[in-house]
Parts: sequence; structure tokens; C-alpha cells
Amino acid sequence: MSGKLIDGIAIGKEIREEIKARVSDLKAGGCTPGLAVILVGDNQASRTYVTNKEKSSKEVGMKSELIELPVSVSEEELLGHVTRLNNDQSIHGILVQLPLPTHINENHVISAIDPSKDVDGFHPVNVGKMIIGQKTFLSCTPYGIIKLLERTNTEISGKHAVIVGRSNIVGKPMGQLLLQRDATVTYCHSKTKDLAEFTKQADILIVAIGKTKFVSEEHIKKGAVVIDVGMNRDENGKLCGDVDFDKAREKASAITPVPGGVGPMTITMLLKNTLHSAEEAFK
Ligand code: GUN
Repeated sequence: MSGKLIDGIAIGKEIREEIKARVSDLKAGGCTPGLAVILVGDNQASRTYVTNKEKSSKEVGMKSELIELPVSVSEEELLGHVTRLNNDQSIHGILVQLPLPTHINENHVISAIDPSKDVDGFHPVNVGKMIIGQKTFLSCTPYGIIKLLERTNTEISGKHAVIVGRSNIVGKPMGQLLLQRDATVTYCHSKTKDLAEFTKQADILIVAIGKTKFVSEEHIKKGAVVIDVGMNRDENGKLCGDVDFDKAREKASAITPVPGGVGPMTITMLLKNTLHSAEEAFK
């Protein structure tokens, strides 16, 4: 078996076209959706992510504001920028790129963002709403994965979804979104014993552990749908995921590549959340 490719570039593009049309309608009515991104320090990976977010928001016609702050910025000063953006009516989405330098408390910063502009879906109020199934901003990577599954007609209800990784950004919300769609959910993580015993039961396997080629064919049930959230570099400096793609593909019925799978969807859902925020503000 050679699993089908789940093409995040094509699906992301399709959704961004839909977003672009709705942005155009909003602009015709006098409202330009605005996204502000705060980048602290000079982490190269964060800079690349932020540059891509800015570029994509402009491509769909949004206003984009990038605030670059030095690594030495104080928490107070950073919070001052957040407050200013909370009060700026031309800004509908605020994103503070993580991780932040260790002298800044990430929880303080996330909690300072107006929940109605928290397009990352990280604010405790929005996380709470997500867990009880209320309408809110959904964390972009898990939301993007749900869209990948939906648009490839992957059945979720009644399926066993196994998630490897328990971060606040991906693993935890991923499980909740699948549970809401009636999957049976198992969480695994770096301390799980006999990982393969769990992952081999998965109809849908989501891997977000941050370790190069951590999951391979011995972890995968024949016919499983495999979603790789990893973004690593192999020994030759080539981008690769948490899944050993070539070997896993032999077992999977469908699989996301890295790059070109989950990555483009994360940015797309950020734009979708920003659009939604602007639509709500403009009502
Ligand atoms: N760092 C890695 N992923 C993300 C994300 O989705 N949002 C933010 N704000 N920071 C991140």
C-alpha cells in the first residue's frame, strides 16, 4: 500500500481563496481586516513563521502590522503594546509569536490579549469555550488539521484517534476537537510506555512530539490516516517531520507530507480566525 498524499498546499489555497473573497466583501463595506503580529527577539524559526504569516495576510487583502521588539524588551513594555493593539479598532487579530524569552511570563502576555482578538485561540477564556464546545477562536494548527480531515472526507465519528504530544498549542486542543466530533481519543506523550501499543490502534494518528522521524511503520496500523505536525531538520539539513514519511506511507491509507501538509493550514486558519473577528466587529 502507498498512502494517498494529503495536500495541505492545495487545501490551504482553496480555503484562502474563500477568505480572500470574504475580505473583499468586507472591504467593499468599509472594513479592512487587520492582523497584528508581535515578534520578540531574533529566533530564526519564529522570524520565518512571522514573515509567512505577514505575507499570507497581505495576499488575502488584509492589513498587517508587524511589531518587532528586541530580546531585552521588558514584560511591561510588551504588555503595553498588547494593550495598545487591544484598543486599536483597525486591528481584529493579535498574535504574539511564541516562544518568548524566559524573563517574560507567556501566560501573562496571552491573558492580556483581548479574547475577542485572540486569533491564536490561546487565551484561557477561549480555551475554556473550546473545551465546552462554544463558538470561539480555535487554535490554528488543530483547526487546520480538522479541515484537512474534513476536506479529504476522512470519517472522524467513532474512529480511534491517537495523539502523540500534549502541548497547549497542538496536542491538547487537537484531542478536544476530535472528541467533539465523536472520535475516541487517546493521548500519548514522551513518558508513554510502549508507545507503539497505542499508536497501532489508531485509525487517525496525529504526531506532534517535535522529534525527527520518531514514528515509523512499526507504530502504524495498516490503513491509518497519519497527520505529521513536526517541522524538523534531518542530518542533511532537509526539512522533515516527526514521522518517517517513506516507511509510514507504506502502511497508511493517507498521510501528510512535511513540508506541504499541516504547515500551510496553520497560517490559513489564522487568516480565517482574523476574518471571523473582523466580521464580528463589523456586524
Ligand atoms: N509558535 C509556534 N506555533 C505558534 C502559533 O501557532 N502561534 C504563536 N503565537 N506562536 C507559535
